[in-house]
Amino acid sequence: MAGEITLIPAQPDLHEFLRALPKADLHLHLEGSLEPATIQELDPSLSLDAIHGNLHYTGFSGFLKAYIWVGRLLDSPAAYALATRRLLESLGAQNVCGAEITLSAGMILWKGQRIEPIFEAIRAEAVRFPEISVGWIFDAIRQFGVKAAEPVLAVAKELRRDGVVAFGLGGDEERGPAEWFGGLYRDAREAGLHLTCHAGETAGPHSVRQAVDIGARRIGHGIRSIDDPELLRILRERDIPLEVCPSSNVCTGAVASLSAHPLRRLWDSGVPVVLGADDPALFSTTLLREYTIAAEHFGFSREELRQLAANSLRYRFA
Ligand code: ADE
Ligand code: ZN
Repeated sequence: MAGEITLIPAQPDLHEFLRALPKADLHLHLEGSLEPATIQELDPSLSLDAIHGNLHYTGFSGFLKAYIWVGRLLDSPAAYALATRRLLESLGAQNVCGAEITLSAGMILWKGQRIEPIFEAIRAEAVRFPEISVGWIFDAIRQFGVKAAEPVLAVAKELRRDGVVAFGLGGDEERGPAEWFGGLYRDAREAGLHLTCHAGETAGPHSVRQAVDIGARRIGHGIRSIDDPELLRILRERDIPLEVCPSSNVCTGAVASLSAHPLRRLWDSGVPVVLGADDPALFSTTLLREYTIAAEHFGFSREELRQLAANSLRYRFA
């Protein structure tokens, strides 16, 4: 019909190409993966309108409030197990073969729950998905300070042989600088845990430098590293990858838009990069969608997409 616009996908087979790639998600929060339908399974009294109202936010502090609202719904080991099941089902559908999933262990303690029975429940769920190799990262909440992070590390050490691969810091980097946690990171490393840290997401490259200085071997986000060429050199030389999550960065306001996002420039600088979904339900995304964005928005070629996927396997801690 005259005047009708037919939308032809630029790369019709892109989805299948990306789905088929063996890939891992190294930056993925269990709490942030709770989709509205799963929330309703947990609490059938919540209407979809109420759920969407609580998941709606603007800016990074609004995002953290939504994240806490979701986290509070996880009120039992069974609730954490259901969240794990639904997340692993989604990863399976995307042909994701590996995941290092962050558990906000700091939030569990803050809610007054015990970590051990919750971890037992999620581990029991994860073994039902043998096609996905799963490791767990225990995150402390940085703005709560070192004292609150100590028991998180203690339990991470205790559960290291049961699948906890790393210790990390999440939350508000402006209100909890990485340098506070140097002693704790040393302790974690000596106990055989790997180290990661959110940094350079809402704060500048100095925050990434601090994370590197206390021993982080992967950086969550790290996008502001682009402003510091010397830091880029350090990341290259020490082979420290950035876990880049473009949809997250747009949704939290860390960048103004995808066009302002430095993914392409970071990649071209030669810094190791992996892609992550971060909090897929809160950012309406999936790992597959992040790869699609890399292709369609940032012009990653098939070969570059293959390299991104290979990086995700190469930089696994486990
Ligand atoms: N916890 C969950 N998602 C996070 C993010 N994007 N930044 C900091 N802490 C988080
Ligand atoms: Zn994150």
